[in-house]
Amino acid sequence: MNSKPPSLAPANISFFNAHPAPDDCHKVILAGLQAEPKTLDPKWFYDAEGSALFEQITALPEYYPTRTEVSILKAQRDSIAAYCGQGSVFIEPGAGNCAKARLLLDAIKPAAFVPLDISADFLFSAAQEVAAAYSWLSVSALCADFRDFLSFEQHLPAGRRVLFYPGSTIGNLDPQAALNFLEQAVSLIGSDGGVLIGVDLHKATDRLEAAYNDAAGVTARFNRNILRRVNDLVGSDFDPDAFQHHAFYNETLRRIEMHLISAHDQTVHISGHDIDFSAGEHIHTESSYKYTVDGFSDLASSGGLRRVQTWMDDECLFALHYLEPMDR
Ligand code: AVJ
Repeated sequence: MNSKPPSLAPANISFFNAHPAPDDCHKVILAGLQAEPKTLDPKWFYDAEGSALFEQITALPEYYPTRTEVSILKAQRDSIAAYCGQGSVFIEPGAGNCAKARLLLDAIKPAAFVPLDISADFLFSAAQEVAAAYSWLSVSALCADFRDFLSFEQHLPAGRRVLFYPGSTIGNLDPQAALNFLEQAVSLIGSDGGVLIGVDLHKATDRLEAAYNDAAGVTARFNRNILRRVNDLVGSDFDPDAFQHHAFYNETLRRIEMHLISAHDQTVHISGHDIDFSAGEHIHTESSYKYTVDGFSDLASSGGLRRVQTWMDDECLFALHYLEPMDR
């Protein structure tokens, strides 16, 4: 389905809506809550309310990843551009407001910018602002589930492809899924392409745990909001206030785990199914894997990508890597 561009859209933009058919989220959510341990997919965090809460998280004093990555992009843009090369098709999965790509566009001068996002309205207005601000740039906004590469690949403009994947979003995936994502990335970019990816670094537990347990309680609200969202999606009767936010660093698996802990024995209803919680029982809502530079290099090479360059901040909190297919 081709969405008609808004009538005042600049000439250098095209839109394509490849949004997945409303999938059977009901079945998936129920299965997660019937599993042992109970789980919810972190993608459900991001409705309008959850996206607004996440934006607040990125500005918290304890949450260093966003501001650190932005400082790296600003400080290193010329060096980053030298690796990415000019005239590419610059693809950003989960582009949102496109703010991070905008820090690079003047330096890397792509032939085309392809922001991808699942949230059509938000994406299309952000992409329109990019097209208006960069009149020399061709913008192809694609509404799609970026984990489903096949759904959008056919809509990409021709040219050498560079995939921009900032924000340590890859950290949400467990190692097997991250590997699968990187393998798909290799087949998308082809042998002459590149991947510019932001990855949060493994570090002292105190620092990591503070970033997910902010004093203002925004992360706790973000975590509990998933229950209100699930109520909206499947008509369940979760009481978000009957669950407590719990986040800790699992040093063995090198991941932050976010959980919601049932404050007391309770039963939640989802269309005729009873989900029983005992007091203290957890729902696992998110993992956020942290990598050393070497650990991420190993993962990338298992996926067929060689780490060519890495940029970090002075404190070594966050890393931005440029990767190329091994077989080039
Ligand atoms: C958007 C997945 C990178 O893992 O740090 C922030 C999400 N969760 N605080 C992260 C998040 C709680 C964030 N990612």
